[in-house]
Amino acid sequence: MSTDANTSGSDWQPGHSFTPPKEFAAQANASDPEIYGRAAEDPEVFWAGYASRLDWMEPWNQILEWNPPHAKWFVGGKLNVSTNCLDRHLATNGDRRAIVWEGEPGDQRTLTYRELSALVNQFANVLKQQGVGKGDRVSIYMPMVPEAAIAMLACTRLGALHSVVFGGFSVESLAERTNDCGAKVIITADGYWRRGNIVPLKSVVDEALPSCPSVKRAIVLRRAGDKCPVKMEPGRDLWWHDLIVGQSTDCAAEPMDAEDPLFILYTSGSTGKPKGILHTTGGYLTGAYTTTQLVFDIKPTDLYWCTADIGWITGHSYVVYGPLANCATVFMYEGSPDWSTQGEPCRDRFWDMIERHKITILYTAPTLIRACMKWGDEHPAKHDLSSLRLLGSVGEPINPEAWLWYHRHIGRERCPIVDTWWQTETGSIMITSLPGLTTTHPGSATRPFPGISVDVVDDMGRSLPPDHKGILVITKPWPSMLRTIWGDDHRYQQVYWSRFPGLYFPGDGALRDMEGNYWLLGRVDDIMLVAGHNLSTMELESVLVEHPAVAEAAVIGRSHEVKGQAPVAFVIVREEYAPPSSDGEARKRLAAELKEFVSQRLGAVCRPDEVIISGDLPKTRSGKIMRRLLRDIAEGRVLGDTSTLADPNIVAGIKSKYGSDDD
Ligand code: WT7
Repeated sequence: MSTDANTSGSDWQPGHSFTPPKEFAAQANASDPEIYGRAAEDPEVFWAGYASRLDWMEPWNQILEWNPPHAKWFVGGKLNVSTNCLDRHLATNGDRRAIVWEGEPGDQRTLTYRELSALVNQFANVLKQQGVGKGDRVSIYMPMVPEAAIAMLACTRLGALHSVVFGGFSVESLAERTNDCGAKVIITADGYWRRGNIVPLKSVVDEALPSCPSVKRAIVLRRAGDKCPVKMEPGRDLWWHDLIVGQSTDCAAEPMDAEDPLFILYTSGSTGKPKGILHTTGGYLTGAYTTTQLVFDIKPTDLYWCTADIGWITGHSYVVYGPLANCATVFMYEGSPDWSTQGEPCRDRFWDMIERHKITILYTAPTLIRACMKWGDEHPAKHDLSSLRLLGSVGEPINPEAWLWYHRHIGRERCPIVDTWWQTETGSIMITSLPGLTTTHPGSATRPFPGISVDVVDDMGRSLPPDHKGILVITKPWPSMLRTIWGDDHRYQQVYWSRFPGLYFPGDGALRDMEGNYWLLGRVDDIMLVAGHNLSTMELESVLVEHPAVAEAAVIGRSHEVKGQAPVAFVIVREEYAPPSSDGEARKRLAAELKEFVSQRLGAVCRPDEVIISGDLPKTRSGKIMRRLLRDIAEGRVLGDTSTLADPNIVAGIKSKYGSDDD
């Protein structure tokens, strides 16, 4: 049953849906339902059609070269990302606003395309002067200020790869990521405002750099000023504002091959060490450009706000590259949603900014929506949100309750909602509604974007009929797909292409209903959600095996009333360290030591609730640990199917030991 989005959603029942409002459909960038059929008929031609709307310095001679699992798109073509985001808009739209920014204390800046272009060119000249050139890596550890986008665009102008590290990450995370990519230069700021305080960034960089030998220069933006004194290391650290003085506003853009690397972005995913996801130039920009245009329905009159930090892929594709390639006006905010311009706690900063700036498109995450629901309906109700015309969601499945709250209290039952499924690895949106075309169902991301082919399969990779829960796969290459993991192509093949040869494995569960809508069901692999933290079981396992006593470890997440999930570790102890099974005290001591070991290494949130010392672990014949069975044991369930176990007796052995560790 369908109800029009103009009618009240208050009587919503599961199964109800919302058709696009007529006025929206009438003006939408994607208004022809045939787009799906045309794209499906020949996805390569579909993508090439959008790619050709970008500025190319040299045309490609082949749309796709596919040697699974390695793709090359727009082979032989040359282009530059910064000219596509800036130069090509200047003749007709130089005075259009590119970035409208608000700091947490309420300070504001606006940069037109012409101004942004001048700053990017100047900063590219700065980087060049510091020895940065094509193929070099640059770490960016910045707050949400326009200079973050300027730094990214300046790298792309020179053909240098940026690796943006989220400003909330620690010294160790910054050092690990900076070393993995071998960055020559790091760009940072003194600090930034968050919930009324200054968060220092430069001091984190100072702590990280002694263990980052590749970094020769740190360029420091002054944001916090007097509030955040910094120590400048002579010969290494330079102020942004000193370097920029007198720089030319012209810097020749490096002609990049379509397949030249554009950036690296680290994602923790399901395995231990963060993965440096590598995106390339032509395909990535085509994906970001096309999806921004069709999913967010960008128009010259819009003020578009994606609330993501530039440290995440959402910030790359939908704060910087996609919108600027479309000549959109982007809103950017530095601070926290619960802090006012007056420097006090509040619950309505977002709604206040939407009203004051007349923001028209809002793209945010379910966790923010749920926080706002908890804070109460009265906060958005105080504000005129009539400028809004489109809402988006990303990051995790949005529960129908949050979807409906967003629809009623923010969209005021006028605005279509696009629930967009994608990943760091996919580069751009993969499953989503098109706001003028698609009937939406709260909780479903609806359909694959035109030109994207997905399926839901069983454990063996066989396509499942509708209404069956299974594993999501992507069946054809797409332009903005990751090309590899930086420095580890083997891992790229293992993680994404080995589960089902020939199919891309994103690691999410999904169900396709009778109408062809996709419902995402969360991660199928080994991520635990402990007190709101995404922990990978592999991360804990790799630390446990670093302990001299541990030969092998398997970690699972056990349901926990308060934390959601809590880690439980099953370990095989090396013979020479193994306490005799009769020595209960010695086993307890070792278990306690291992908990402490994990806690020391990874932080208290990772401390296992329980460590079970076991003689062996249940494995399949191909040697994969069957965590599903360990979970069954830990949660006291009847064991599932054990028929694929190499040695079914092992499970009985572990079961008898389970619970013996009660410290
Ligand atoms: C994982 C990717 C894509 C940018 C933000 C996260 C989950 C993301 C949705 C959605 C259900 C979603 C998936 C995916 N996810 N969007 N609309 N519905 N799940 O990027 O850190 O690479 O995480 O986020 O599990 O695999 P990421």
